[in-house]
Amino acid sequence: TFVVTEACIRCKYTDCVSVCPVDCFREGPNFLVIDPDECIDCAVCVPECPVSAIVADTELQADQAEYLALNAELAPLWPTITDAREPLPDAAQWAAVRGKRSELQR
Ligand code: SF4
Ligand code: F3S
Repeated sequence: TFVVTEACIRCKYTDCVSVCPVDCFREGPNFLVIDPDECIDCAVCVPECPVSAIVADTELQADQAEYLALNAELAPLWPTITDAREPLPDAAQWAAVRGKRSELQR
């Protein structure tokens, strides 16, 4: 499966959702996740993300490893998103920030 990692938090550019052939993105308040039960590993979403937040589970860096379980945990709780929309208002400001895990809202 592919995994949405920390870079998405407080950005939520949503370019990723419109290309997914199986509509497996789920939307939270300031983060998206991929439903691992639906993702078909096509990888077309990867280059769409302006902050490179989407990574294959097999290529996760050690400091992003927790996002595999987090995507699986949150996917059943959040609604499907299939249409791109405006990024969050402060997306540009947060795009380069590291260590923003604590900013994630459920
Ligand atoms: Fe959707 Fe393909 Fe991305 Fe999986 S890898 S989330 S199926 S676009
Ligand atoms: Fe997030 Fe990137 Fe999609 S910021 S909403 S994973 S385009």
